[in-house]
Amino acid sequence: MTLTPILTAHWDEPDSHTLGGYTRHHGYEALKQALDTDPDAIIQLVKDSGLRGRGGAGFPTGMKWGFVPQDGKPHYLVVNADESEPGACKDIALIMANPHALIEGVAITCHAIRAKHAFIYIRGEVPHAHRRMRAAIAEAYAAGHLGRNVHGKGIDIDVLVQPGGGAYICGEETALLESLEGHRGQPRLKPPFPAVAGLYASPTVINNVETIANVPYILRNGVQWFRQWGSEKSPGFKLMAVSGHVNRPGVYEAPLGITMRELIEHAGGMREGRQVKFWLPGGSSVPMLTAEHLDVPFTYEDMAAAGTMLGTATPMVFDETTSVVKAVSRWQHFYKHESCGKCTPCREGTFWIQEVMHRLEAGHGKAGDLELLQDLCKQMSGRTFCPLGDAAATPIPGALKYFREEFEAGMHTAADVLFPPAAALVGASA
Ligand SMILES: Cc1cc2nc3c(=O)[nH]c(=O)nc-3n(C[C@H](O)[C@H](O)[C@H](O)COP(=O)(O)O)c2cc1C
Ligand code: SF4
Repeated sequence: MTLTPILTAHWDEPDSHTLGGYTRHHGYEALKQALDTDPDAIIQLVKDSGLRGRGGAGFPTGMKWGFVPQDGKPHYLVVNADESEPGACKDIALIMANPHALIEGVAITCHAIRAKHAFIYIRGEVPHAHRRMRAAIAEAYAAGHLGRNVHGKGIDIDVLVQPGGGAYICGEETALLESLEGHRGQPRLKPPFPAVAGLYASPTVINNVETIANVPYILRNGVQWFRQWGSEKSPGFKLMAVSGHVNRPGVYEAPLGITMRELIEHAGGMREGRQVKFWLPGGSSVPMLTAEHLDVPFTYEDMAAAGTMLGTATPMVFDETTSVVKAVSRWQHFYKHESCGKCTPCREGTFWIQEVMHRLEAGHGKAGDLELLQDLCKQMSGRTFCPLGDAAATPIPGALKYFREEFEAGMHTAADVLFPPAAALVGASA
């Protein structure tokens, strides 16, 4: 399958991030079209396109917009640019290279959901992305794409950039809202869902950066154009950030339905001609797959049938020099660190999983540790307040299913002895 550069079409042009660069390629034409269109018609168009949220869960975007009630309260749009999941690195790249696609999408979405204010919540560790976003927003205000009476159509749209504090949990939509309101970033009980009672208890749409950046292209080119790619349930194209042991890691924009085998080819093959040992289709929160699964299409339904999830479609690929135990141990360290502590199964579970994984990684595993790991995961899955707890329990069952002998070896041999880091470095330096 060939790549489909759409959002990424002009990323190699030196001024792709500027208003001039964006308008040279039909930028802001869709906004003008949208301002002459009834908001409900835009929501219907996005529903018909089948666009699904690009932030991981794949919720239908038009349906989410349709939940916003007409109750006289102010409405808000919040763009989730927290992007803190291990492996996910597409939204910040999009903001750096094509921020005006996001701004145009924000303005169109505000019109559709009848919001006058939008917030772009960007993870705190990327000040360059904040600067880039703010500069692009200033250009958009100066050109009349944002502000009072946008293009003389009697519509006001204001956009604010808010830096996050560097916590993964603030990517969870309700924790993000808490953080935006100035509170500690911990998830809220749902329902009520944000579309009904979100920011300042008012109807709020929360969407991923890439989701919103898709909107101008769909509006300009139409539903059939978007649906020419992908499947009935997973239409369109997707930014796929390929990382790990490939020769050319990076963001590849491809039709949904592409396979990992094809993506690895686009990414220059495996480094040093090595083999795929395991890979994760969409960040560390989705179950791992192996070389047997390289031909599974990247669609929501095919990934589910293979026992995993599309997630953010930011695949991480590992070759045979990698210790599965060590990789899982790193992710568990991350989840333990990022657990917000609000609920017991996640707060305690991530701690104990990390303890066991550190033992196994050091070659000091105890009898019964594998059963303990399985039990901990069982006690956490579906029993935590928010999906971070489920995510933390995700890597272990798959890793045990495919690579149990490596966990058993952790009873007596350190991962670094079985898989010397120097072997991995040979390829990295090539
Ligand atoms: C722990 C955690 C972290 C998350 N981080 C992000 C993130 O960085 N960006 C994002 O768009 N969605 C993230 N999500 C998903 C959001 O809660 C939400 O589903 C998403 O922003 C909705 O946008 P979409 O419908 O456009 O995908 C995260 C969820 C969880 C549980
Ligand atoms: S699952 Fe973890 S991150 Fe989510 S609320 Fe509970 S403790 Fe916090």
